[in-house]
Order: sequence, then C-alpha cells, then structure tokens
Amino acid sequence: MCLLLLGVLAALLSHPGAALKIAANLNWIEHTPLPFTINNLYAAGPDRPILVDGGVISLSDTSDTIIGANSETQGLKQYALHKNYRLIYVLVEVTYRLVASRASNIQKLPDLKGKKIGTFNGTSAEVFVRALLSDAGLEEGDYTLVNTLVNGSMCMRAPCGSGTLPAMLKRREIDAFGCWETAPELAIEDIGGAEVSVFQNATVFREIFSLYATAETLGDTEKRAQIVRYIKSVNETLELFKKTPDNILPFVSETINVPETVIGKVWENHVWGPGTLGKELIDFLVVEEKYLSKMDNRTAMSRVDLEKFVDASVYEEALRL
Ligand SMILES: *[C@@H]1O[C@H](CO)[C@@H](O)[C@H](O)[C@H]1NC(C)=O
Ligand SMILES: *[C@@H]1O[C@H](CO)[C@@H](O)[C@H](O)[C@H]1NC(C)=O
Ligand SMILES: *[C@@H]1O[C@H](CO)[C@@H](O)[C@H](O)[C@H]1NC(C)=O
Ligand SMILES: *[C@@H]1O[C@H](CO)[C@@H](O)[C@H](O)[C@H]1NC(C)=O
Ligand SMILES: *[C@@H]1O[C@H](CO)[C@@H](O)[C@H](O)[C@H]1NC(C)=O
Repeated sequence: MCLLLLGVLAALLSHPGAALKIAANLNWIEHTPLPFTINNLYAAGPDRPILVDGGVISLSDTSDTIIGANSETQGLKQYALHKNYRLIYVLVEVTYRLVASRASNIQKLPDLKGKKIGTFNGTSAEVFVRALLSDAGLEEGDYTLVNTLVNGSMCMRAPCGSGTLPAMLKRREIDAFGCWETAPELAIEDIGGAEVSVFQNATVFREIFSLYATAETLGDTEKRAQIVRYIKSVNETLELFKKTPDNILPFVSETINVPETVIGKVWENHVWGPGTLGKELIDFLVVEEKYLSKMDNRTAMSRVDLEKFVDASVYEEALRL
C-alpha cells in the first residue's frame, strides 16, 4: 500500500504539471464549460485537469497554470505585456447589454449625451460602453463614465448590494450602466422592463471569451498534447451547451450559484463556440486594440503583432484527433 502510494507520488513528481491546470473567473457563466468538461469527459485520477480561480493573468504567476480563460480584452492587455501569450480557442461570444433608466429620458443611444454611465474600470465592460456610444456618435466628453471596480460593484444574484451597479441605477445615482451578465438582467428584473431601455450590438462589441497559453507551453510536446485533448473535449461540451441547454442550465446554475430562471433569460446573449480564429477575429482585435491602447495610454499593437497573438494550430490539431 505504502509502496503503491510512493509509486504514485514518484510518478507525479516526475511529471510536474501532470494534471493540466486551468485558471478562470469562477463566477461567470462563460467559464462553466470548463468544469463541465472536467467533470464529465475525464475519469477521476491524477490526469484529470484542475480548475482554479484566476484568468489569463495566471499564466505569469508561479502556480503552473497552463491555460488561462478570459475575455479578449484581458487577453490583449496581457499580450501587450507578454508577447509569448497566445489565444488558442474561442469558447463563447457574449453580447453585453447597456441598461438605461427611462426616468432619465433615455429612449435611444444618443439620449445618453450628458448622462452618467456606470461600468467597470479597465475591463471589457468599459470597452463595450465606449464602443457602443462612439458608434452612436457620442464622443468621450459627451458623457461621464462612472468607473467602479469589479470587486464590490458587480452583482451576479439578487438582492444586489447598495454599492453595485443595478442598485446605483435603481437609486438614479447613475443613468445607465453597461457590462456582462447577470447584472443587466438583474437590473431589468428589479427596476421593471417597462422602466428601462436596453441596448446591445454584437457588431460593435461582443466579448470573445477565449483560452490562452504561452508559446513555451505550446512548444512542449507533452503539455501540448494535454491542451489539444482538453480543447477537443471542451468543444464536445459546447455542442451540449448549444443543442440541449435545458439539460445544461441546472449545472450552470449550481456552478455559479445563480437561479436557473435568470440564466435562462440571458442564455441567448451567449453564442457558444468554437468561434473563428481567422481574419474576422483579427479585424475585431485590431479595432478593440485601438480603444484599449488609448485607455491604457500605450502605442497600439500592429495587425502583424495581433496575427501572432492568435494561434489556430492547437485547434487544427484537435480537428485531426
Ligand atoms: C482606472 O483604474 C486605473 C488603474 O487602477 C487607474 O489608474 C485609473 O485612474 C482609473 N480610472 C478611473 C477613471 O477611475
Ligand atoms: C478583487 O478580488 C480578487 C479575488 O476575488 C482579488 O484577487 C483582487 O486583489 C481584488 N482586487 C481589488 C482591487 O480589491
Ligand atoms: C449595429 O451597429 C452597426 C454598425 O454601426 C450597424 O450597422 C447596425 O445597424 C447595428 N445593429 C443594430 C441592430 O442596431
Ligand atoms: C500618457 O503617456 C504620455 C507619454 O508617455 C505621458 O506624457 C502622459 O502623461 C500619459 N498620460 C496619462 C493619462 O497617463
Ligand atoms: C467542434 O465542434 C464543431 C461543431 O460545433 C465541429 O464542427 C468541429 O469539428 C469541432 N472541432 C473539433 C476540434 O472537434
């Protein structure tokens, strides 16, 4: 028995990273295919992937994270700092929503001129709000962004605490806010559908929630094989997310602790992958990088740089499995 344990231990030690470690924000709907895949498509044992709290940023820490999951916004911000990061798979594309109070006289986007709009500083939500307003002809000085930090002001489930965006909108401290779900849905339900205007436009902005790994890891034969197998399995999971949502919603609800009814209402804003890794994605990233580089006060990365960021070879290998 003891010898057996020692044998297992030795095997583990001789393969540091034997289990694929994946980091994602565990609160969001977007990440749920990752644990679903681990629970349902892998046998229990030392080779089963491990999911931890984090994201693309975890690729640079010392936790042996092999895959990080995040929006393309966080991906681009990290790529600007780490040119060895690669976007290898698109899990889901999410159309964010901007909810505005009709009591503030907002029926159409240009009505947001001179208004206070809540969002999360430095995130895909801020990029979304700026892009949507710019597309409606509003310049930065035409409105006031009430930037809040994700911690504290995000609300995933009712009742939303007083410092959260839905509560601030209800008290009319802000006239509108824009971000990912479930906060917009909770505001609509709490304030009442007839009392709010809701705006979204997937062409102007959608979150492209993706998986990332480093070029070094992708060059390691053993780790690469693990990544390819995992992506193949996640891709199978997404078929279920697309085709049989009724079977999936209870799992998503339990995983992020949000009522199934709320998830059901926002499900249609989630287009499950695999998303394209081709020219359309690069075009989208080029436009977003223009916003981001301005927000972060740095020089925009070139199209050539962004083409290097997107690495379709892992997915192509998964196709051949
Ligand atoms: C957003 O956050 C960054 C980094 O924390 C900070 O430098 C910046 O001043 C913030 N901007 C606003 C408008 O709060
Ligand atoms: C936000 O919360 C995360 C963990 O949930 C933590 O790692 C991070 O430091 C927090 N950020 C701030 C600004 O409080
Ligand atoms: C979304 O934005 C694009 C680009 O401005 C525009 O052509 C399109 O009509 C908009 N779609 C909707 C549904 O408003
Ligand atoms: C942006 O960068 C420029 C040049 O490095 C610097 O002069 C300027 O103060 C920066 N602005 C902000 C808001 O950080
Ligand atoms: C992923 O799923 C799609 C169907 O949604 C399928 O066309 C594609 O071949 C799958 N890719 C892989 C790598 O299995």
